[in-house]
Amino acid sequence: MLSILIPIKTESDVVTIRSKVREITGGLGFDELDQSRIVQSVSELALNVVHHAEEGTVLIEPLDREGRRGIRMVVQDFGPGMAETEPILRMSETPSVVEGHGLRQVRELMDEFVIRAVNGKGTCVQVSKWLTVAAMEVEE
Ligand SMILES: Nc1ncnc2c1ncn2[C@@H]1O[C@H](COP(=O)(O)OP(=O)(O)O)[C@@H](O)[C@H]1O
Ligand SMILES: [Mg+2]
Repeated sequence: MLSILIPIKTESDVVTIRSKVREITGGLGFDELDQSRIVQSVSELALNVVHHAEEGTVLIEPLDREGRRGIRMVVQDFGPGMAETEPILRMSETPSVVEGHGLRQVRELMDEFVIRAVNGKGTCVQVSKWLTVAAMEVEE
């Protein structure tokens, strides 16, 4: 599979992205539960672009590191960014009704989570997930 870049501007783009990511993760061999976790994550990040920035992109690429396979998704926008991301993510013990639930949930759902936001310049969230050894054996 080659990397693909999908623009994000409206909620209907998010629908397209969800189904594309569902298809790709299925093809890579992720089980149903992991497919849902990955789809939920990209959906949340893309909706953040629609709601909190104006437009952006998602880059979806397969990973293959020393025989370990996975997927990486990079969601980027040039919207308002954030002054500080740590307080949002640090609220992990507080009830999920407060803002910041979406990003924290994505961090829980994925194996790797890196957020870079520059106030006034934009936000970039990079997440990845690896196939479990069991999932890789199913294919072999
Ligand atoms: N792409 C983004 N651009 C600017 N601000 C963002 C972006 N994503 C998230 N934020 C800010 O971080 C907060 C927390 O995001 P999130 O955890 O997804 O919760 P929610 O979207 O429900 O508010 C948002 O309320 C918003 O202020
Ligand atoms: Mg959100």
